[in-house]
Amino acid sequence: MSARPVWDILEESWTVTVGDVEAVALSRSRALAAASGWCSQPLPILVAQSIRLVVSELVTNALRHAGEAGPITVTIWLTPHKNLAVLVKDGSPEPPILSQPYDDGTAGRGLAVVAAETISWSWRAENRGGKTVSATIALPGSATARRATPASQQALTS
Ligand SMILES: Nc1ncnc2c1ncn2[C@@H]1O[C@H](COP(=O)(O)OP(=O)(O)OP(=O)(O)O)[C@@H](O)[C@H]1O
Ligand SMILES: [Mg+2]
Repeated sequence: MSARPVWDILEESWTVTVGDVEAVALSRSRALAAASGWCSQPLPILVAQSIRLVVSELVTNALRHAGEAGPITVTIWLTPHKNLAVLVKDGSPEPPILSQPYDDGTAGRGLAVVAAETISWSWRAENRGGKTVSATIALPGSATARRATPASQQALTS
């Protein structure tokens, strides 16, 4: 339950319980607090918002679509490129399916939000059953964040 430095890797992990009405909110704030501590500079509002959205959507999906299939574990870690990786493991073999959300649809937007807010997202089946859905968010100062800065802003800030 605590931040644990492993060589130069920072990682934090916790379990989420089905029926815990605070699970999503707690995961959101925990991820945000860890990322704030790990990042070498203050988190911009938009990055903080991305972290909130991505953690909310992935944890909600695990609870809603795989909640009956076994334990759910959330792991966050600072990647070698200094981005934030969010991994949510659940017990269901069913894959997450990114679809084109319709304006009048009532569901199917969560993964579209995750895709829009992250450098990349993916999922993999686990050998012992279940799967892990993961997403990587660019943190300020990382090489990815610098590359993602629009050329117009680079000209202004360099
Ligand atoms: N962890 C998961 N386990 C099993 N299926 C999943 C999981 N996450 C997503 N899915 C599948 O992928 C679909 C798309 O997920 P997405 O988050 O985009 O939409 P949603 O959860 O149905 O609705 P919304 O997120 O807009 O409330 C889901 O309807 C579900 O079929
Ligand atoms: Mg969803």
